[in-house]
Amino acid sequence: MKFFLDTANLSQIKEANDLGILDGVTTNPSLMAKEGIKGKAAIEKHYIDICNMVNGDISAEVISTDFDGIVAEGKYLAALHKNIVVKVPMIKEGVKAMKWFTDNGIRTNCTLVFSAGQAILAAKAGAKYVSPFIGRIDDTGWNGMELIHQIRQIYTVQGFKTEILAASIRNANHITQCAEAGADVCTCPLDSILGLLKHPLTDIGLAKFLEDAKKFV
Ligand code: E4P
Repeated sequence: MKFFLDTANLSQIKEANDLGILDGVTTNPSLMAKEGIKGKAAIEKHYIDICNMVNGDISAEVISTDFDGIVAEGKYLAALHKNIVVKVPMIKEGVKAMKWFTDNGIRTNCTLVFSAGQAILAAKAGAKYVSPFIGRIDDTGWNGMELIHQIRQIYTVQGFKTEILAASIRNANHITQCAEAGADVCTCPLDSILGLLKHPLTDIGLAKFLEDAKKFV
């Protein structure tokens, strides 16, 4: 399973990249706004900065909702850097645009996916990635991880090549469960990745080893 970082924060991207385990980055308009990135030039520079930091796929999301607008925006984003993957919402015009991008050699990440039916449409449109939002489903009282299992089953049975990019990750346990469910990619906040490191027995064991090591130096 590939690890993507779900942020537009450059220092967090550097920290995760320095670990040597980062395969890509996903952004969305909310994450860009959180970093105070405003205006076409600043957005363009920010995406290029991320692409130059990380050797992997970087999702950049369109904000148009009509076919012509999505295509124009996606073409512009894809031309910024070879690492850019155009993130397109799961709406009717988005499906049509994703098929256009597929036919024209532009990779897409279908976002805002909350059902297996939507994941089938994304695969039929040739999306490189489909992004089911686990945490937001959990927030409504349903089980986000069940959707990952269901999409994995459908894609395997049908031979769809679209990669399952589990999104809206809230904690380290989500990452472990995504790996178990057969997600191809998990896009995570840095805290959730660092949470994978934690186990009290590791801390206790290391303290004891270091204490005992003093006895023979
Ligand atoms: C990533 O592609 C998604 O935009 C992101 O994971 C959404 O996460 P959130 O539900 O925490 O906003």
